Amino acid sequence: MNFTDAKRKPNVLGKVVLAVVLTVFCVFILKQSPGIAGTNMFSVHELGVTHVLVTGGAGFIGSHAALRLLKDNYRVTIVDNLSRGNMGAVRILQGLYPEPGRLQFIYGDLGDAKFVNKMFSENAFDAVMHFAAVAYVGESTLEPLRYYHNITANTLTVLEAMAAHGIKTLIYSSTCATYGEPEKMPIIEATPQFPINPYGKAKKMAEDIILDFSKNSDMAVMILRYFNVIGSDPEGRLGEAPRPELREHGRISAACFEAALGTIPGLKVRGTDYNTPDGTGIRDYIDVTDLVDAHVKALGKAQSGKVGIYNVGTGKGRSVKEFVEACKKATGVEIKVDFLSRRPGDYAEVYSDPSKIYRELNWTAKYTDLQESLSVAWRWQKSHRNGYGSP
Ligand SMILES: NC(=O)c1ccc[n+]([C@@H]2O[C@H](COP(=O)([O-])OP(=O)(O)OC[C@H]3O[C@@H](n4cnc5c(N)ncnc54)[C@H](O)[C@@H]3O)[C@@H](O)[C@H]2O)c1
Repeated sequence: MNFTDAKRKPNVLGKVVLAVVLTVFCVFILKQSPGIAGTNMFSVHELGVTHVLVTGGAGFIGSHAALRLLKDNYRVTIVDNLSRGNMGAVRILQGLYPEPGRLQFIYGDLGDAKFVNKMFSENAFDAVMHFAAVAYVGESTLEPLRYYHNITANTLTVLEAMAAHGIKTLIYSSTCATYGEPEKMPIIEATPQFPINPYGKAKKMAEDIILDFSKNSDMAVMILRYFNVIGSDPEGRLGEAPRPELREHGRISAACFEAALGTIPGLKVRGTDYNTPDGTGIRDYIDVTDLVDAHVKALGKAQSGKVGIYNVGTGKGRSVKEFVEACKKATGVEIKVDFLSRRPGDYAEVYSDPSKIYRELNWTAKYTDLQESLSVAWRWQKSHRNGYGSP
């Protein structure tokens, strides 16, 4: 052994000891980090688990969709800025699915691209159901820029983040308002889209952005054009609870319940001179339970590089007068009704032909008894007079 060898030996030993100590230290640190320890299961893809980002999941339809996804064993992340949704709905879902890796809530605004990108880089989403939107026709005529920003620009932000992070599937919430007032009923998916209010136009533009993007992408895309959504969870866990300040723009079901509860003096029916059998507007009312079922079926059948566009409706038009009668029966309250002139941006008659979604996704509306859907929703309203409580 020469002089240099004698000096090297303890050095090598020291390095080995140091390496072992460092390795043990690193393993300890990694074990403490949530991703490795398994507590943050949202940031890693897991074989056999589909992680769905539900935007607007604190809202009416998004919360019902999240409930159904959780029931079907999906992993769910809800993102919402609570501008219109209810933390109370999220709390109900958290109470039902408290196990690690089932549901997480992220508070944030989809108009903030930096936030959106951070959320996508910190979470391993497999699919996005993009519900978040402002969604009142009347309000959109008063605040059009808000609608273009919140619906069109935010969808672009979400889509860009999805593309950048390689998310494979998008289910997009669109609306029959993108068709405007077509001459021919029922509306099929190929009916030309000429929206007549900023809400419908903003959604149509968002659809166009998605469609253009899809031409050169392998993302699986489903665009669902809903008709008028009513009802609530048949087990009474969730309901529709719009903010009081939105009452004046409100949808007919919410207004009807408020009139029945006495929160507002009566129901205002706008437009009695339309070219329809009883002069009031005709709509296609789809129960939220059926609607979320359509989303789950769309998610299951979404194919890479393909776009599916589907109407989600019952195929049956009901007049506003019919709706009011069903509401009176469901609530048992003789609601006072004021008949007023038309609302700007509204249309006479809209109902779907849902045969494409039946043919291709094997989906059909099951909850088609208007009075029954309203009775279910009324039960929740009666027992939640203050909605979900304070936001
Ligand atoms: N309700 C209907 O009859 C109907 C019909 C057709 C289409 N749609 C579409 O369905 C979707 C859901 O509608 P809804 O009735 O549940 O509305 P909602 O107002 O109850 O829910 C929308 C949710 O999105 C959230 N949100 C809005 N802007 C956001 C933002 N910038 N960032 C994060 N979250 C935001 C709100 O806080 C709210 O929780 C919307 O895209 C709407 O256009 C609804």
